[in-house]
Amino acid sequence: LNLGILISGRGSNMENILKSIKSKKIPINPAVVISNRTDARGLKIAGNLGINTEVIESKGFEGSRADYDKKIISILKKYGVTPENGLVCLAGFMRIISPQFVKEYKNRIINIHPALLPSFTGLNAQKQALEYGAKYSGCTVHFVDAEMDTGPVIIQAVVKIKENDTEESLSKRILKEEHRIYPEAVNLIARNKVRVFGRKTIIT
Ligand code: GRF
Repeated sequence: LNLGILISGRGSNMENILKSIKSKKIPINPAVVISNRTDARGLKIAGNLGINTEVIESKGFEGSRADYDKKIISILKKYGVTPENGLVCLAGFMRIISPQFVKEYKNRIINIHPALLPSFTGLNAQKQALEYGAKYSGCTVHFVDAEMDTGPVIIQAVVKIKENDTEESLSKRILKEEHRIYPEAVNLIARNKVRVFGRKTIIT
């Protein structure tokens, strides 16, 4: 299986997945990291780890979302990340994926969201949880479907919210769990242990 990771920024999940592939012997080939921003910090990290990197600048891109995604798909395919033999990880990729991309890579694109879905979708999920007054939040790895943050759940981790938590302190504790469950989800898929039945996944 060939892995493509899509990023927009910091890239800590990307870095952690790439390092886990080595250290935990996850049977997947880290084929390419693609960013929609030239200034994404994650690009340098990936480069230093010896992974191929590509940028398709989304700012000022002339064309539709589907046109942009066509470019992403052609790069993925160039590195062997095909719907048949690939997995795409969204790791802080701050763009919505077109229905065409989702359809072509059905159950082959996964994402991490810093809340317990279906709660607190979209941006600033940690802040949303704090402002709501939730006692628990966490993170979710899920398959990507046509809507935002709605696809079948693969793994979730719970994080208790403290009374004195700030957005920063909560985000930090959630990130720690993200770094645990995202590589674990990649590992399960790489070992062909995840089955999807409608909204549900079964881990074998
Ligand atoms: C993470 O909190 C992730 O859950 C969300 O975006 C953030 C990306 O951080 N989707 P990083 O780029 O992986 O460090």
